[in-house]
Parts: sequence; C-alpha cells; structure tokens
Amino acid sequence: MFEFVTARELYELVHQGSLIEKDQLEYVELDGWVRTNRNNGSVGFIELNDGTYFKNVQLVYSKEDDDYTLCTSLNTGDAISAYGVFKITENGKQPFEIVLKKLTLLAKCDPSYPLQKKRHSFEFLREIAHLRPKANTFLAVFRVRSVLAMAIHEFFQSQGFVYVNGPIITGNDCEGAGETFSVTTLNDFSKGYKDDFFGKHTNLTVSAQLHAEAFAQCFRDVYTFGPTFRAEKSNTTRHAAEFWMVEPEIAFADLEDDMALIEDMVKYCIQTVLQECPAEMEFFNKMIDTSLIDRLTHVLNSKFEVMTYTDAIERLKKAVENGEAFENKNITWGMDLNSEHEKYLCEKVINGPLFLINYPKEIKSFYMKLNDDNKTVAACDLLVPHIGELVGGSQREENYEKLVARMNELHMNTSSLQWYLDLRRFGGVSSAGFGLGFERMVMYVTGVSNIRDVIPFPRTVNNCEF
Ligand code: 4AD
Ligand code: MG
Repeated sequence: MFEFVTARELYELVHQGSLIEKDQLEYVELDGWVRTNRNNGSVGFIELNDGTYFKNVQLVYSKEDDDYTLCTSLNTGDAISAYGVFKITENGKQPFEIVLKKLTLLAKCDPSYPLQKKRHSFEFLREIAHLRPKANTFLAVFRVRSVLAMAIHEFFQSQGFVYVNGPIITGNDCEGAGETFSVTTLNDFSKGYKDDFFGKHTNLTVSAQLHAEAFAQCFRDVYTFGPTFRAEKSNTTRHAAEFWMVEPEIAFADLEDDMALIEDMVKYCIQTVLQECPAEMEFFNKMIDTSLIDRLTHVLNSKFEVMTYTDAIERLKKAVENGEAFENKNITWGMDLNSEHEKYLCEKVINGPLFLINYPKEIKSFYMKLNDDNKTVAACDLLVPHIGELVGGSQREENYEKLVARMNELHMNTSSLQWYLDLRRFGGVSSAGFGLGFERMVMYVTGVSNIRDVIPFPRTVNNCEF
C-alpha cells in the first residue's frame, strides 16, 4: 500500500502530529524538482521541492540501492518521481525524510540552468522571470500573493460585498492624470479615431472606481479586483505600468466608514498571511527584513493614526527647521507630498500606518467630496513604513451641481461622463471607497522592496519582457 503525496501533505501530517505514529512506516510517492544532491560515497541526500510547500523534502539513498547510480547522477533542476518509506526523524534538521526505494527520472535539466545553488541578486533573477519562481524567495512571494488575493475576497465576501468586474477597455480616465495606454486597431491616425474599432478613442483602465460607484448605488457594498494600467513614467520601486487594484465602494457611507474599512482590511490581510504562510513569513523575517513579523504583529494590535494634510505640512516644516535632510525642503500648503515626506511622516513621526486626510482639492481627483472649508476634499491616503502610499481613498461628491462645477473647473469633458453624473440624479446617495495597490500590499507583508519582485512578469518603463 502506498500513497501519492505532496510535500504540503507530508508537512501538514507531521505538524498535526497525530496522524502518523512515529514508528508507523508508510510507502509514499511524490514528484518534484531536485534542489540539491550530495553524497559521501555511501549515503546520499536529495533535497526535493515539489512546489506545493515552501520547504523541501529530504530523500535518502544509499550505495546498496538499485538506483544508486541514477541517484548520484541527479543535478539541480532535474524532475524526478520518488518512491520510498516515509520516516519521522529524531533530532534531524528535517522533521522527516523519505528513504528511497525507487527513483524515476522525469525530465533532465540542462547544465546551463541558471539557478544553481547560490544566492542570486534580485536584478539577475528579474532577467529570468520565467524561472525565478523556482528560487526560494519567489516560491514564498508568489504563494503569499495567492493567499493574499484569497484573503481580499474572503474579507469582502464575508461581509456581503458583491464582487464586480470593471471593464478593462474604457473611454474614460478616472484619475484624470492623462497616464493612459491607448487601445486601438488603427495604424494610421491621421483621420482621428472615427474609424477605430470602437469609433472613438479608448484606453486601458486606470481605475474601476467610476464603474464600481454605479454598482454601489445598487448593491450598496461592492468591490472590484482587477488589472489596472498606468503609463506613469516614474521609474520607481513602487510603480508598475500594469498592476492589480482592489477597489471597494460603499454606499450610505462617509470618509470615517471608509477608513474603518481600510484598517480592517489591512489587518485581515496581515493576520491571514501570518496564519496561513508561517514558513514563508519566517523566511522573509530571516532573509529580507528581521523586524518584519514584529512590525506586522504590532500593526495588528494598534489603531491606525490619523493626521490632516494641514497638520502634516506643519510637521514637515518643523522637520525642515530641525535640519531634516529632505531633497525637497520647500514645504508649502498646497504641494503634493513627495514620497520622502510621506515616508518621514509614517516612519519617523508615527512609526506605523498613518491616514493622511483632507487634502487640498487641487492635488486630488475631480470626484472627491468638497469639505466645508471649500479648500480641501474628504480624501484619505494610507501611508505605511517602507512603502509610502498603500491605499488611496475618498468620499465621493454626491451633489450633481458641485460635481459638474468641479469638472468644468478642470476643463473635463462632461458629456463622456454623463452616465457617471447621472448616478447623482437617480437616487444617488453618499458613497465612499478606496483603491488598494495589490502589489504594494504584497510588498508590505513580505518586506520585499521592489514592485518588480512581487508581480510574476513585471511591466515598467522600458521593460516588457516575457
Ligand atoms: O491613489 P490612486 O490613484 O486611487 C485611485 O485610483 C482611486 N480611483 C481609488 C478609489 O478610490 N477607488 O490608486 C490607488 C492605489 C494607490 O494607493 C497605490 O497603492 C496603487 O493604487 N497604485 C499603484 N500601484 C502600483 N503601480 C502604480 N503605478 C500605481 N498607481 C497606484
Ligand atoms: Mg493616490
């Protein structure tokens, strides 16, 4: 009797303890890729990874085995099928091992395989994005990414939110920043877009918010979670041209409700990852950022701070007076904060997540609700240490006239957004929502500092390989 198993099943079995008695031997078979293979002439050890679990499974073979020659010939990257006796180990580095009885070579790995056992730089690994998930760091990152995606769905679904898919091709630019990628089938643009596929100019979405708002006015609580595209030329560690955004929208709600939702969501994500990916999180804590788990645990147990934009400007002015070495020391009310300022506020002033609220209307999008001071809007950005802006949200302007006036001030084309304006005419109530940059969330919980390393095949300025 034997069972086909995965590494995950074996580790779960061992960690749960009771399922396999210490001295009860069982035959198992598993498939995987050789990580390392070493032998001292009489016994040998193969570290096998089958992708189902972060940790490897140790296979043991000896000179007496029929397959000894095959065993010794195995190299890093070879795919094999292993059949043997499952054994709990006493005091070993591994909690268990498999004593090989039969080995089958499934696929040979060419000696030019670039992922030999040594530490490679992130830069080098980016050049082999098709192979890097075989490296420990990426095996961990992309499992955490998957678990996080599920956590997002669980968080919203458990509260009755409806999952909405916004369109990817759209005629509008929600953020109004003009950083869109055009979608066209034309080669000749001299006659405009009249003869184009859609008979007009279209682009890839920069945000599904406007469409989410339409659905929030029907379902009350909704969220989108989809690919988002921005042709920002800023070549930073936090910007990608293609990324994933989570955009909830809640009706009958204001900025306070929005911030409470953001805080709950961030905490839920952290908690889920700590619970479901302990091996991966331990690895990040050891290899990438030794304060990671402590920091995340602290975030779980603290209330997020709130500061107005106006207070933040005062703080930053003081910081400059006290000699803080900002690149941009020209702090004035109305400025768009640079990431060094955002980092200073959440890392040095607060040392934790910080909501900055009530920004000047001039530096925020057209749809945000104007505050009573007529100068600021009901917006909130969640800033977190090491990342900066993790979330951007706001209460929406629900007053038709005010919204039209703002769009006119900004010389926006109201006719193409008449449908959006109409939401205000047909029983539109106050609503609020936010956008979470999903990759930034992955960076935040893993400690990985470059967005290119948390998305499988990154697209950034001058980079669209694979
Ligand atoms: O602050 P943003 O631009 O907000 C919006 O798009 C709103 N429509 C959201 C809403 O209220 N529904 O973007 C939201 C978040 C940012 O806080 C950031 O985390 C992420 O999206 N983000 C990016 N992530 C990676 N690469 C980029 N180029 C990003 N641009 C924004
Ligand atoms: Mg923003």
